[in-house]
Amino acid sequence: MEPIEVQPMTTISTHSFGDASDSDDAFSIRIIENMKEEYGMFVWPCSVVLAEYVWQQRLRFAGVNVLELGAGTSLPGLVSARVGSHVTLSDSSDRPEVLSNVRRVCLLNGLECEIMGLTWGEWDEPVFNLEPNILLGADVLYDTQDFDNLFATVAFLLKKAPGSVFITTYHNRSGHHLIEYLMVKWSLKCTKLVDAFSFMPSHKASDLQGNIQLVEIMSCE
Ligand SMILES: C[S@@+](CC[C@H](N)C(=O)[O-])C[C@H]1O[C@@H](n2cnc3c(N)ncnc32)[C@H](O)[C@@H]1O
Repeated sequence: MEPIEVQPMTTISTHSFGDASDSDDAFSIRIIENMKEEYGMFVWPCSVVLAEYVWQQRLRFAGVNVLELGAGTSLPGLVSARVGSHVTLSDSSDRPEVLSNVRRVCLLNGLECEIMGLTWGEWDEPVFNLEPNILLGADVLYDTQDFDNLFATVAFLLKKAPGSVFITTYHNRSGHHLIEYLMVKWSLKCTKLVDAFSFMPSHKASDLQGNIQLVEIMSCE
């Protein structure tokens, strides 16, 4: 393996899945984080929650196509790759530093994923070639100005691949009104809504703050 260059202000965090003392399936993913940068360069709590959900639901992820949107440091997508999905990790085309970090993180973990710039609501040619069975998005619902662009991309991809699902984690600051509004606006339906604390193991839940929800969303068509 090539040596991984560690930049100033950069740390490597380790995230464990399963109990190594009683399971052969258990593994860890290492993430390169940059404390100086904003958004996509460190692991947000929503990402820890979504990654744990992927691990717990790993049988459904084996052998399917997964696309992570706004992947940042990509923990959920990397767990999907580790449990056997064909994974594409994406982040804004305007954030080359985030996409380079994703490349380094894949190398560090010895995982092969496609990596692409995908800005929500923009229709570059590669978007039309995507056909994910599962879309992932951790903490991508944080700026109301981006919601239309994000859901334009999500609704397009969900309609293109019947039976596909968007699984996203977000900080719930407005009750369920936000999700209800987006479902109606984009002709989507919420098929599952759970509180992070209902499935997170206690050692991970104790580090979480706030009200993190996980929703599964499908097309109504
Ligand atoms: C709050 S961070 C979450 C990162 C990661 N999913 C996590 O939870 O650790 C939001 C991510 O969305 C990406 N993002 C923001 N606006 C975007 C857009 N218009 N198109 C694509 N990605 C975008 C950012 O670059 C960033 O990586």
